[in-house]
Amino acid sequence: MNIKTIKYRFKKKNTIGKQEIQSSIKVLKTGDLSGFMASRNQGFLGGPQVRKFEKKLEKFYNVKYAISVNSWTSGLITIIGSLDVEPGDEIIVTPWTMCATVTAILHWNCIPIFADINYEDYCIDPEIIKKKITNRTKAIIAVDIFGYPAQIDKIRKIIKKKDIKIISDNAQAPYAFYKNKISGTNSDIGGFSFNYHKHINTGEGGAIITNSKRLAQRSRLIRNHGEAAVLNNKKLLNNILGYNFRLGEIEAAIGIEQYKKLKKIVSKRQKLCRKLTKGLSKLEGLVLPKESPQRTHNYYIYPITLSEKILKRFSRSTIIKHLETDGVQGLISGYEVVHKFPMIEHKIAYGTKGFPWNINKKNLKKGKIICKNAEKLHERSFIGIEVCLYELSNKDIELIIKSFYKIWKKLKL
Ligand SMILES: Cc1ncc(COP(=O)(O)O)c(C=O)c1O
Repeated sequence: MNIKTIKYRFKKKNTIGKQEIQSSIKVLKTGDLSGFMASRNQGFLGGPQVRKFEKKLEKFYNVKYAISVNSWTSGLITIIGSLDVEPGDEIIVTPWTMCATVTAILHWNCIPIFADINYEDYCIDPEIIKKKITNRTKAIIAVDIFGYPAQIDKIRKIIKKKDIKIISDNAQAPYAFYKNKISGTNSDIGGFSFNYHKHINTGEGGAIITNSKRLAQRSRLIRNHGEAAVLNNKKLLNNILGYNFRLGEIEAAIGIEQYKKLKKIVSKRQKLCRKLTKGLSKLEGLVLPKESPQRTHNYYIYPITLSEKILKRFSRSTIIKHLETDGVQGLISGYEVVHKFPMIEHKIAYGTKGFPWNINKKNLKKGKIICKNAEKLHERSFIGIEVCLYELSNKDIELIIKSFYKIWKKLKL
């Protein structure tokens, strides 16, 4: 008889506790659920909880400016707009990311230029960036995908002294270290998502961090309709399209409490995932996450790549099916290849030769842009475990390892 290794459901993650409930009630009792005003006073920068939350973030990340927003998608749109972009400007980005990283570029009529990822660490490949830079390149977005920091120092070397900004998308990595700095503090501007499946959450929400006064000022303008009311400096208003990207007071109050827990939450996730790596490391044919004190992982998703040796014998879907039947939960097959999304392909068809762009029919052909590594990982070899969904325990990890061993033995891998 085949007995399932994992016979129960993993516990759902929930980081909201008593403190978050109490601080939300406190805000509710004031009746002021948002303190934002579009006028020439402090209200332009939000209510007391929003401002307190931003101060906390500035201290936590040791940066000059933190700007809260009502989602990280809003944050990315704000960041691109803060860079004084013109239609047709190019921004280099990987396709192996959540689509908002890319659609934020399109919001400003700029062109995403896709650069492939490294096969081993899934982050943007600095060597490929070299080939993609043109005189229209305005920025590079480095995504800390799955919680693993992109190599900002290498990217900086490549752009040398060119006027190209480095943006970090740290949505999945709120507390990862790269060479003794928290990732996101080593680029020109970056930030985090606080949606419900991130390490910590405010329901929806996000925050931008930067040390640049100009980028911070422009971000605050874009967040709150870009109205000139509070400004004497008209130059800041060039190319501004403002939105309502304002975070509510309750969310900000929750964010303050959540940040008190962040280090503990990340550390617990790291311990469990390192145990998983150690446990799986003796199995044939798995590429597992690498970590060092110089480059730490936040494990939003636990990434695994199957080797060709394994894939020659069994397809990824067969392996996943066996693991799922044995009770392993949270498995994903492939990730994102944003350059292949119809909405993106259509936009790219308009070419990169300024504005208005000429429709280039040839570019409409599917599959024109090739990012070999991302495509192979997506279509063939990548498996993720969505550890972000669960409050995993040592026992869960031990059973996941046991299940992998069982399936490997069964398939004679
Ligand atoms: C890498 C990345 N960028 C951007 C986003 C968008 O963040 P939000 O859902 O807060 O808008 C996400 C969300 O999952 C993400 O993972």
